[in-house]
Amino acid sequence: MSMKRLAMLTGGGDCPGLNPVIRAATRRALQEGYEVLGIRNGWKGMIEKNFIPLDRRAVAGILHRGGTILGTSRTNPRKMEGAVEKIFENFKGLNLDVLIAIGGDDTLGVAYELYRKGLATIGVPKTIDNDIPGTDYTFGFDTAVNIAMEALDRLHTTAESHHRVLIAELMGRHAGWITLHAGMAGGADYILLPEFPKSMVEVAEALKKRHATGRTFSIIAVAEGFKIEGEEVLQTQEKDAFGHVRLGGVGERIAKLIEKLTGFETRSVVLGHLQRGGAPTAYDRVLGTRYGLKAVELAMQGQFGKMVALHGTEIVAVDLQSVTKAKVVTQELYAEAQTFFG
Ligand code: F6P
Repeated sequence: MSMKRLAMLTGGGDCPGLNPVIRAATRRALQEGYEVLGIRNGWKGMIEKNFIPLDRRAVAGILHRGGTILGTSRTNPRKMEGAVEKIFENFKGLNLDVLIAIGGDDTLGVAYELYRKGLATIGVPKTIDNDIPGTDYTFGFDTAVNIAMEALDRLHTTAESHHRVLIAELMGRHAGWITLHAGMAGGADYILLPEFPKSMVEVAEALKKRHATGRTFSIIAVAEGFKIEGEEVLQTQEKDAFGHVRLGGVGERIAKLIEKLTGFETRSVVLGHLQRGGAPTAYDRVLGTRYGLKAVELAMQGQFGKMVALHGTEIVAVDLQSVTKAKVVTQELYAEAQTFFG
């Protein structure tokens, strides 16, 4: 009897914790007697039949490494003529029994569509943005939050010395999770999220009040997707293959407005891809590892069309279908953070 074959791919933006998933899934699958393949560069590799064999050696020494040893891309097969058919052809040609797709809403959306068309897929939710529904947390988020928190700590000391307002623009696309958590952990004096409109006059008044009590500096954490008077700030008008705009520049815009409204010297900094690079935290290594193990367990049980998820402290399986809508910050959580504004 021929050996069962399991493949995995990583798609979308990279994220600390991907390598722990790859390592755990590979080691568990090898123990269960699977032959394991790593598809290179997300869906692009499935279309091009670009893969590497994954054995014990291939996944040694990667637990602590950021990024993904498989490479990634934002290739969207749904937008490419004949690509979905090619994926089916290569799945068959490679004698695969199951494909584990490790990615965010885009990658998992494709995995779900392929599952509906008859392909044996299983999803693992990844993103620093933490905006995937159906799971309490995605891996990568904790690392990004810690990096952003450390940046806010550093901004505090220089803001205080120079009596400035400093604004940190943080990632997260249309969800404010990174900014909310980093802002709370880093003691930001104002937190601006895509989910909650705020007028610059309101922010300026809060800062003026704070400075009237003798404080001479303030820190604002703003999410890249925050809208100024209902408008997102874009780096370019171009969209990627999944239709996403490239956000960027809101921090600088706000800095100018706040300086004008308050008279306080105001500067901004964009943290950007620093939030996505480097080693995963212990939390993300453990979460990624547990997700990887569970994905193989689902593969063994033939539970396709599922995504592994964290519910409380348990790793469970939910329908891949649940990823269609982004998970955003709730009013209750924002209200907690608001206690510390100004
Ligand atoms: O989804 C992860 C993320 O880092 C977002 O927070 C950010 O808006 C986007 O990816 C940036 O994408 P890229 O790396 O393609 O510029």
